[in-house]
Amino acid sequence: MHDTTPQTAAGKVLWHFAMSLDGFVAGPNHEMDWMTGYSFRPGLHEEYISTTGAVLGGRDGWDVVDDARPYGGAWQGPIFVLTHHPEDATPAADVTFLDCDPAEAVRIGLAAAAGKNLEVFSPTIGRQLLDLGLIDEIDLHLVPVLLGDGKRLYHNPGGTPVRLHRVGPDGPTSTVNVRYRPA
Ligand SMILES: NC(=O)c1ccc[n+]([C@@H]2O[C@H](COP(=O)([O-])OP(=O)(O)OC[C@H]3O[C@@H](n4cnc5c(N)ncnc54)[C@H](OP(=O)(O)O)[C@@H]3O)[C@@H](O)[C@H]2O)c1
Repeated sequence: MHDTTPQTAAGKVLWHFAMSLDGFVAGPNHEMDWMTGYSFRPGLHEEYISTTGAVLGGRDGWDVVDDARPYGGAWQGPIFVLTHHPEDATPAADVTFLDCDPAEAVRIGLAAAAGKNLEVFSPTIGRQLLDLGLIDEIDLHLVPVLLGDGKRLYHNPGGTPVRLHRVGPDGPTSTVNVRYRPA
């Protein structure tokens, strides 16, 4: 299997997550500790730190991180948090609470990203943006763990399949093969 080529800063809207093998990006109560102890390829964090110009997330995710910044604080920049009730949010440096439609949030986020990428750190907002045709890439790091429950990358009961094109040299309709053993 080929890994992806390094991410580039090109004003893209990335729906970007580390994801469990069974498709969860957080535990049922937004837990993130399941991804500790796994290695990412060398330079991966630096790649995203340098190509990310702004971050868009939702209120639930923001409230649980308690002002922690992406990439262990190594990334600094504008963060936009969508919420229907910005008035009860605690102000934080570089954080703007937005009550607007997701397309407007993307417009604001891309302007702030100034040519770098806008990272969408929310399953719920990503799904809305996918419906609007505003996701440029779904960018995932597959973590070899099965969670069984949690926040799915894409939760749309009753919806129709969303066909995707694979990015990379193997062709848009190629599948990916992975093999794991229980640890
Ligand atoms: N695995 C990874 O790499 C990774 C990276 C980043 C984050 N995460 C996880 O991703 C999870 C995000 O959780 P989530 O997607 O369930 O929730 P979320 O998107 O963070 O929050 C949902 C909330 O966002 C607000 N919202 C969403 N769409 C809106 C809109 N169109 N207009 C106004 N407000 C809107 C609403 O807040 P109000 O109720 O205030 O209106 C909604 O209840 C967290 O658990 C986080 O830890 C994982």
